[in-house]
Amino acid sequence: MNSNADDSGAEILANPTELAVAPPNVPRHVAIIMDGNGRWALGRGLSRTEGHRRGMEAVRTAVETSRELGVSYLTLFSFSSENWSRPPLEVQFLFGLLRLFIQRDLAELHRNGVRVTVIGDRVRLTSDIRSLLDKAETLTRDNKGLRLVIAFNYGARDEITRAVRRIGEDVAAGRLSPDAIDEAAIQSRLDTAGMPDPDLIIRTSGEMRLSNFLLWQAAYAELVFVPAFWPDFDRAAYLQAVEEYARRVRRFGGVAARRSG
Ligand code: IPE
Ligand code: IPE
Ligand code: MG
Repeated sequence: MNSNADDSGAEILANPTELAVAPPNVPRHVAIIMDGNGRWALGRGLSRTEGHRRGMEAVRTAVETSRELGVSYLTLFSFSSENWSRPPLEVQFLFGLLRLFIQRDLAELHRNGVRVTVIGDRVRLTSDIRSLLDKAETLTRDNKGLRLVIAFNYGARDEITRAVRRIGEDVAAGRLSPDAIDEAAIQSRLDTAGMPDPDLIIRTSGEMRLSNFLLWQAAYAELVFVPAFWPDFDRAAYLQAVEEYARRVRRFGGVAARRSG
């Protein structure tokens, strides 16, 4: 945590096209709610699925920009536990896109030292998708570069519920005393165990809600809502969001002003 108020990060980012080095106020963990694919497409007379297809391009840009900035963790909300309520064909298409992304991009991610982790409930996923996700995690397990966290079939309430169920099992089996249930006990049973909380949560498409994303982990995240639909979220838009983050003053409940980063 950078305790010296320091504007240099914001200055470097003020001219996004000339960003050459990682500024000091870059968030360690960026999490993105990639929203607005459908509206992006409908506004162009295209099908919603075309919007999702273009959204995959924006994913590649976000990964590249994260690496360029020196972000350590990038969490992407790809499919929520509530997205099952969409028309079956759209759900099927989104599953196909995940499959395609891993098949097409995994080798390059691996070459670039990216470590892939998937969070969310895998039980309801078909075994072919599950093994694809396992393969991506296993192949990249020892990579030391960007940690790309894909939230798929993820919902924060579901994640917390599963963690609480595990705590109940541990208590019932005598492995855990109720007195020992503290924040760390909960945290270590979440899908994000071992990861730092997000510093910056970005949501595209102008909606200002979390839609069941990282509710526990977002306790002190800085929230940045951007009007652009996800397929239009390019490098410049990402840098602008980080610039906004770099201007925020984080207090974590205290009084001493601490700059972001
Ligand atoms: C985000 O775009 C992608 C997913 C939620 C899977 P949407 O599909 O939600 O697009 P809008 O919000 O309907 O425009
Ligand atoms: C959130 O977007 C989920 C993902 C981006 C995967 P939604 O489009 O599902 O959220 P709501 O329904 O507008 O809240
Ligand atoms: Mg949406």
